[in-house]
Amino acid sequence: MTQEPKPIPRGTVLVVDYGGQYTHLLARRFRELGVLSLVEPYYKVKQLDLRDYPAIVLSGDHGGAALASGEVEESAERILREALAPVLGVNYGHLLLAKVLGGGLSGGCSEYGRTRIKIVTRNELFSGWSSEEEVWMNHSECVSGLPPGGTVLAVSENGVLAAFKVVVNNRPIYGVQFHPEASHTSKGLVLLENFIELANLERKWRKELYYEQAIAELEKHAREGGVVVAAVSGGLDSTVSALLAKRVFGERLVPVFVNHGLFREGEVEEVLEVLKSVGLKPLFLDASERFLSRLEGVADCEARRAIIGEEFAKVFDEVMEELGARLFVQGTIYPDVVESGFTGAGKVKTHHNVAGLPAWFREKYTVVEPLKYLYKDEVRELARMLGLPEHFIYKHPFPGPGLAARVVGPFTRKKLEVCRKASAVVEKVLKKHGLYEKVWQAFAVVGDDTWVGVKGGARKQGFVVIVRVVESTDAMTADYAKLPYHVLDEISREITRSIDDVTMVTYAITTKPPSTIEPC
Ligand code: XMP
Repeated sequence: MTQEPKPIPRGTVLVVDYGGQYTHLLARRFRELGVLSLVEPYYKVKQLDLRDYPAIVLSGDHGGAALASGEVEESAERILREALAPVLGVNYGHLLLAKVLGGGLSGGCSEYGRTRIKIVTRNELFSGWSSEEEVWMNHSECVSGLPPGGTVLAVSENGVLAAFKVVVNNRPIYGVQFHPEASHTSKGLVLLENFIELANLERKWRKELYYEQAIAELEKHAREGGVVVAAVSGGLDSTVSALLAKRVFGERLVPVFVNHGLFREGEVEEVLEVLKSVGLKPLFLDASERFLSRLEGVADCEARRAIIGEEFAKVFDEVMEELGARLFVQGTIYPDVVESGFTGAGKVKTHHNVAGLPAWFREKYTVVEPLKYLYKDEVRELARMLGLPEHFIYKHPFPGPGLAARVVGPFTRKKLEVCRKASAVVEKVLKKHGLYEKVWQAFAVVGDDTWVGVKGGARKQGFVVIVRVVESTDAMTADYAKLPYHVLDEISREITRSIDDVTMVTYAITTKPPSTIEPC
């Protein structure tokens, strides 16, 4: 069913996506600063009336094949020619603008991570910056020749051109090689704020828009008849999606909860209880045997995700056939989409609900994902508006593949059981010390490493359990929690005491990146 296109609200920043993990983070930063923003892929630029946007940002990082095509340059040329607004190029956008404006690029000038830059020309974009600041870089090429008429604004400690300005058709065009949206760029938000000011943007973003936009996404399908199935797992994202879907589809909505056998201790019962309490009494299907028997012996993490995604699709296909449903609602959030490589960014993990959902399922049914542009903390904001209880809102995120993401090496039921019990201990001890709600995630991991121990005076070759407790705000980056030694000590003693098969407990102390949060 086609709908009338809605007019773009005045004051909306257009963020043009050239592929990269950070594009939506830019859009999100604008929301934080009170400005409406809209992300469109570069190949859609030709369909837009560029005069409608009061500011345009070109964003991107990891190249990829698409970036070499003529269509990419054509989109930037069109923006320079047709738009009336100030333009900001970030990282790849900076290189692209320099190129189409007649500047030169060269390779071999990589900079990654924290880098110092020096402001060489004071100007409105860098107002509030000291003469030297730390920024976050992630590039291998750089601008070697300034576009004609351009001004160098900043240079990095490695001599790389870090920012420039050119005036085209009476409005400023800026390029910055670094990521102002990354939290590691200390004055990044100040720079975006300056851009908002100089573009004279209206501050019209309200947090109610999270709600209105998610509802609008669902309403696009309101006229498609029949039963609507919402996949629910008891997690925050799927619960919020299902609650919103219920507001739109009413009694036609059937929440379906599938037990894949990979939940935490006591979680299935708890989930049924919680869902009932928020008015989402689900249809419950215990498919654990189907999942566990297929996973047995599978070591490769991506192969496991594919199995889980496929098995989920089969179970949902069966139930949807039976109910005569065509619409499938799920709680995918933005980091799931980025890390599955669906934005043109490099793939990190196939989140089972995104790339793990087989193509045949997406072809057969309409998959609706009302939260797919939101980060976790934004979903939490939305959940608060829906009146969900605080303890539920602050429940730790749990991966779709459940404990299968935490069992390393060939999958066995034995390791699964040890992982489940050890995770329960980690959570229990953190709760006892009031630390659970202060961290992003806390769990145990089990692989094939063993350690000779002495238990009850006898030699025992037991498992090594790795405890992982991290702090994060959006799961895109994370740091390990600096837990007090006495808490680590209690976790270790309680795990080795209560689980006979464990003889060693270790603590994971690597940040994301270079690691990820889950081991698999
Ligand atoms: P990683 O391990 O990639 O995880 O640093 C980032 C966040 O995403 C969660 N995660 C998943 N969630 N399906 C999900 O729904 C998945 O396949 C998946 N893998 C990881 C993870 O728990 C963390 O919060």
